[in-house]
Amino acid sequence: MSDSQSKRGAWNSKLGFVLAASGSAIGLGNIVFFTSNAYQYGGGAFYLPYFIALFTLGIPVMILELGLGTMTGRSFPNALRRVAGRRAELLGWWAVASQFIITAYYIVIISWALAMMVGSLGSLFQPGATAPFEPFQEPTAGPSAVTFFFGLVSTWWPLLALGTVWLINAYALRGGTRTIEAMVRVFVPLMWLFMIGLIVRGLTLDGGLDGVLYLFTPAPEGIASAEVWRGAFAQMFFSLSLGLGVLTTYASYLPKKSDQVANALTISFLNCGFEFIAGVAIFSLLFVFALNPAGTTLSLSFFVVPQGIAAFPWGVRFFGFLFFLLVTTAGLTSSVSLIEGMVSAVIDKFGVTRSRALALVAVPCAILSSAFVMPHIVDPAMNGNGTLGLTLLDLVDHWVFSYALITVGLVETLILAWVLGADQVRTAINAHSKIPLGGWYEYLIRFGAPALLGVILVWSLAGEFTGPFLYGDDTTPASINWLVVFIPVACLAGTVVVATVLTLARGKVEKAGTGGMKTGAAIGVLALLAAGSAFLPGKAQAQEVPGIPGTLRVGEAVELTIPEGSTLIVTYRPNSSIARSDSLAIGPDGAVTWTPEQAGVVALAVDAGPVRNVSVRFAGVPWLGVLVLLGAGSILFGGAAFGLRRMLKGDDHAFLLDT
Ligand code: TRP
Repeated sequence: MSDSQSKRGAWNSKLGFVLAASGSAIGLGNIVFFTSNAYQYGGGAFYLPYFIALFTLGIPVMILELGLGTMTGRSFPNALRRVAGRRAELLGWWAVASQFIITAYYIVIISWALAMMVGSLGSLFQPGATAPFEPFQEPTAGPSAVTFFFGLVSTWWPLLALGTVWLINAYALRGGTRTIEAMVRVFVPLMWLFMIGLIVRGLTLDGGLDGVLYLFTPAPEGIASAEVWRGAFAQMFFSLSLGLGVLTTYASYLPKKSDQVANALTISFLNCGFEFIAGVAIFSLLFVFALNPAGTTLSLSFFVVPQGIAAFPWGVRFFGFLFFLLVTTAGLTSSVSLIEGMVSAVIDKFGVTRSRALALVAVPCAILSSAFVMPHIVDPAMNGNGTLGLTLLDLVDHWVFSYALITVGLVETLILAWVLGADQVRTAINAHSKIPLGGWYEYLIRFGAPALLGVILVWSLAGEFTGPFLYGDDTTPASINWLVVFIPVACLAGTVVVATVLTLARGKVEKAGTGGMKTGAAIGVLALLAAGSAFLPGKAQAQEVPGIPGTLRVGEAVELTIPEGSTLIVTYRPNSSIARSDSLAIGPDGAVTWTPEQAGVVALAVDAGPVRNVSVRFAGVPWLGVLVLLGAGSILFGGAAFGLRRMLKGDDHAFLLDT
């Protein structure tokens, strides 16, 4: 191992690297975003395009990002500079600047999951009494995660969770690869274990398999929709942690002779395998219990899943805690990679010590994070985002996340394929790969991948100009409506300025080293405080909601008795990407009979509160769904197992000596 390499950091073993990289890929995207995207785009309509995206875009670009890391031994901006000069470095710093914004709100979502996790032990699952701090919504009968969540975000309590999450990150990053590896060796296996616990529970519930088949049965009308393809490709890119150079940074800590084709395959299969079982676990819950498809991206994980868990026959608190613990751990191993990408870029360019780089990155980023927990209520009806923090998060997420990743991915692919040269890239990667890339790979990165990314980009942009004036214009309250324009402009201008300054700054090289931080005790104290806060008393229960018994088959009728004069809102999610809703007015006797006509997911809601326990079964067994389920499962897990086995067969720890 060369001297400079050991100072930058180096993975102790191949397994350590694969755990870290798959920990980066497996994150909120796999649980929170995947399921809500799949649901929004109509389950079965989503999965096939998503699977195709893995092979046509995900794996090829991952090979590039990993290859760039081992070819140069540098983190993203410096790596780009090494292969293609200063202008390429600018792209690298723009990625880092965007990453800064993404990290700030990504960590906020982890903090909410942490707060919900603590809340699971406290008042989250107490019937009726669900808003822990200052409830402003009338709680419905039974535990309501919606009430709890909005009760939570309209106080400053999440700031405490946010501080805790930042400290955990700083703690994991204090020693670079050494401490990251120590963290992922514990967290990543645990994550899988938690997920398997949930899946077993979900599938053993009556009707659970129906939801799963809904996810895997291809829906022709949905697949014909170009919007579904755009969503699936964008989701794949995010899920694999591509487009910000994070994997380049992680790969730069590997020996030069690492096999990046094998690594890319193993990491992708592990990530998508995890996403596969997350989909199975969550879709099994969806069909059994609560269904309320309205709302934002977060609502599925933060409202619907807890709602489903609340209706478990036993172990409600345990499974609630487990679910949010899973989201938190998965999020943490990703946020660590996001921060490491920035820290490593600063160390490589400016030669400062790790502790200084960490402070330079984490302190301002933590301050920016706190903007997204601002509890000021902007929409008392809580129809849209409700609080200032949520509104900001929604706007920033829309602009930075969708555009930064795809833009960086596009330009990075162009730089590597055209400036450095696709043939050069292929030769460099094949030099250490047991599965050589054929000539097709050059065409793929020269034309295929850029075309795909370009289409997604142009399309997303075109979408901004149809519908409301700008994203969020129709949902953001008038008093802060200027944010709709301000956020995209500020994000673009801010990231471009920061990137330019950092590119032009002259790097100086000092001795690098690792610094320590004594944060363990502080984390303990904060965690205890956070735990204590969950036991604050909740508000008393207000009102009964009529339940609906059992599971419903197509053609079966449901009979409800609900308050006179209210309206029953029925949202159909047939097996396509289009939702349809009907409103049934309730007669004077308060009774209504309704017969579903179509197979698919159906949500029933009364304007007086949600009605749980309804789902509609498919007529007959969707064999195609079973086929996709088994086929995708065996490809993903077969691939992951094969990759891991080959990796572990070699003497894992002799790995450092090879270099
Ligand atoms: N892949 C992560 C997830 O699924 C998110 C993530 C981590 C990420 N690091 C990234 C996304 C780098 C893009 C770039 O949650």
